[in-house]
Amino acid sequence: MRQILTDSFGREHQYLRISLTEKCNLRCTYCMPSDGVVLSPKDHLMTADEVITLAKLFVENGVNKIRLTGGEPLLRKDFDDILLRLSDLDIELSLTTNGILVDRHLETFKASNIETVNLSLDTLRPEKFKLITLRDQFKKASENIDLLLNEGFNVKINVVLISGFNDDEIIDFINLTRERSIQVRFIEFMPFLGNRWDRSKLVSEQFILDKVYAAFSNSTRLPEPRNLISRDYKIDGYLGSFGIISTMTNPFCDGCNRIRLTANGKLKNCLFSQSETDLLTPYRNGEDILPVIQKAIWAKRAKRAGMDTFETMTDPKYFEQNRSMITIGG
Ligand code: GTP
Ligand code: 5AD
Ligand code: SF4
Repeated sequence: MRQILTDSFGREHQYLRISLTEKCNLRCTYCMPSDGVVLSPKDHLMTADEVITLAKLFVENGVNKIRLTGGEPLLRKDFDDILLRLSDLDIELSLTTNGILVDRHLETFKASNIETVNLSLDTLRPEKFKLITLRDQFKKASENIDLLLNEGFNVKINVVLISGFNDDEIIDFINLTRERSIQVRFIEFMPFLGNRWDRSKLVSEQFILDKVYAAFSNSTRLPEPRNLISRDYKIDGYLGSFGIISTMTNPFCDGCNRIRLTANGKLKNCLFSQSETDLLTPYRNGEDILPVIQKAIWAKRAKRAGMDTFETMTDPKYFEQNRSMITIGG
């Protein structure tokens, strides 16, 4: 193995998130702009072979975990082929999905030795699911969560909290963990191009904790991993656990080990990077892209791509220079 991809703060980047498509079969308002996004022309997107070759290059340089994202990764026609080929690499492999198409790919998940599936589900109420996703698919999403659990997968449920919309369901979500070994993660609503973020819609880590402490007297904080993304808790006696992803009010950039590769082959050294590094074009031109990758990682800013304060983070002048979330993949 060559050198691990390290930035100027000494953070080692071993977790690669690859977005496979810019398309989605849901229309979550916090992710997809209401007037859609301009999709990349097909020949600007990575082919399956290119995804595999680039992934291998990252693995040769220390990456030991790859997550497939979208849009919705399961929409990609060659998803099964890509997943199976990636499973030959010596990595932890996973995906983040909205769950709607999970049943169609279950056999491939098993054949690829996937252990954990991360699923987005923002409400436990069908009528609200339709309001936030603009699609009437709650039944399918929740059936597929049950299916994954019954088949022995670990399931993490991502809940983007939006004030006045689903913050009244925090305790209901935690109660899901009583008899099921799932991990629920509450995510602070983050601003991206076109997602109509507003300060008043943000549900903070502190608000969530206040709700938890008011409802339960017996919660325990779980140990923090080195590359923490969520601060995790457990209600004593419950099978599952829950966590909070507090990018907005309490960021966790110090231990960041994440690199993103977009469906059109651009490297983002942070979720919030305003600048991106094209890997696909030089790769197609036969150039050595490793120095390009190393340089891009080295240039990573300490915190949220330079938006260090809450004020800069929430100023459209800055965050609107980033892409829409749908084309980043989380
Ligand atoms: P695990 O490997 O299970 O920890 O998954 P993950 O949390 O890395 O991935 P997932 O796709 O489930 O992301 C959950 C939420 O965390 C999404 O809202 C992401 O946008 C957010 N997230 C993921 N990675 C980062 C990151 O590097 N920085 C920040 N600020 N948020 C992130
Ligand atoms: N803020 C926080 N999380 C978001 N996600 C999508 N958009 C946002 C946003 N604006 C989450 C989705 C998915 C993950 C990949 O990113 O819920 O679970
Ligand atoms: Fe890493 Fe950027 Fe996320 Fe911070 S905001 S944890 S630096 S990707």
